[in-house]
Amino acid sequence: MTTEESAGRQRQNVIYRDGVFGRRPKVPTDFESLERAAKKKMSAAAWAYVHGGAGSGRTVQANRDAFDRWQIVPRVLRDVSKRDLGVELFGKRLPSPLLLAPVGAAELAGPGADVAIASAAAELGVPYIFSNQGSAPMEESAAAMGDSPRWFQLYWSTEDDLVDSLLERAENMGADAVVVTLDTTMLGWRPEDLNLGSLPFAQGKGIAQYTSDPVFMRIVRERIAAALPKPDTEVTLGAVRALISMTSRFPGRFLDNLRSPEPRAAVETFLDIYSRPSLGWADLESVRERTSLPVLLKGVLHPDDARRAVDIGMNGIVVSNHGGRQVDGGVSSLDALNDIAPAVKGAVPIVLDSGIRGGADVFKALALGADAVTLGRPHLYGLALAGGEGVRDVTANVIAEFDLTMGLSGLASVAEITRDALRRA
Ligand SMILES: Cc1cc2nc3c(=O)[nH]c(=O)nc-3n(C[C@H](O)[C@H](O)[C@H](O)COP(=O)(O)O)c2cc1C
Repeated sequence: MTTEESAGRQRQNVIYRDGVFGRRPKVPTDFESLERAAKKKMSAAAWAYVHGGAGSGRTVQANRDAFDRWQIVPRVLRDVSKRDLGVELFGKRLPSPLLLAPVGAAELAGPGADVAIASAAAELGVPYIFSNQGSAPMEESAAAMGDSPRWFQLYWSTEDDLVDSLLERAENMGADAVVVTLDTTMLGWRPEDLNLGSLPFAQGKGIAQYTSDPVFMRIVRERIAAALPKPDTEVTLGAVRALISMTSRFPGRFLDNLRSPEPRAAVETFLDIYSRPSLGWADLESVRERTSLPVLLKGVLHPDDARRAVDIGMNGIVVSNHGGRQVDGGVSSLDALNDIAPAVKGAVPIVLDSGIRGGADVFKALALGADAVTLGRPHLYGLALAGGEGVRDVTANVIAEFDLTMGLSGLASVAEITRDALRRA
């Protein structure tokens, strides 16, 4: 995005012009108001799943506190009339250093979730990383994006055949890269969900990449043939609701599905095989034979792990603590970035994930060595408030604020953002 009329000014103009006609923005332009408004729109279960963190929420808080420990030191009287927010990642020029993070079971936040998010991302040219726990098959989301960039996020299943199948589908639907998420080999302890006894996947939400996969469905049918899993015979209102939820999400006709053991077996199979807690470096080394796509590791927080990832030929690192959803009392991702960047900077691209809420956060992450950042919860809140338009506007707002922050700090391009622009608070 290089324009005289910059991303920031454009967005301001749209909002202020609408204001003249008495129209307010569909999504609040600051994170706190956005979050508050989204909470009002979301069901208790959806709010718990999206907002919740691990344990007492200390890592969620740490992600924010870390940003507050750095301050931007603007410089004046530099020509910033033309600014370039663009970056290059894996051979593609992107309009800004922002990607949309993979979010599973996004349908909790709004109908048509993945496809709506994908279309919104495509409108802005922002890459969307499709979650392995998406609510739509990756091919459907890709179809909504035209030629716009998309990546695929993989959870490494206990079944290697399934891993290969998902990777092949990612290549076929035009993914530019694969992100292997390493920090969720088990689900973290999430009291907001636990207190409601609510897990979206158990209702058949967020398993569309699986039920659309031929290898996964082969495994499901083999398990049914072997009389697994054993049916639970207790019939409660909740169990009936869950059955309807699973059945309505399963591919095919609802009435046929209602008579079939497959929807329920698919959920059980998913819960059994989606992730491999024994995953080790040797598995990751094998990824090179499994796909020709660039591979990034997501969930790296220690410089030694980052170095090792580079040593075994990984193409990038996503410094992330999964938005504080996995380990309570964990290191913030920004602090981890500060340790990791010197260890691998220049060797491979580094993406900072977890805690990005506005343009100043993007700026600080880049100054501390990230090449790009991902936007997570905020885009889901946009979805909850105004569907695809909400996702688009939340994302455009962050890019606009980043543009203005960069320009007002006296810098005209992303490459000029260095550590010199920051001081410790
Ligand atoms: C509702 C929700 C679902 C998520 N699902 C996934 C997922 O399927 N795969 C994944 O790698 N990360 C997933 N994440 C983590 C995000 O990719 C990202 O790391 C996180 O949202 C960053 O934290 P932030 O949103 O607080 O900035 C999920 C996060 C949320 C909030």
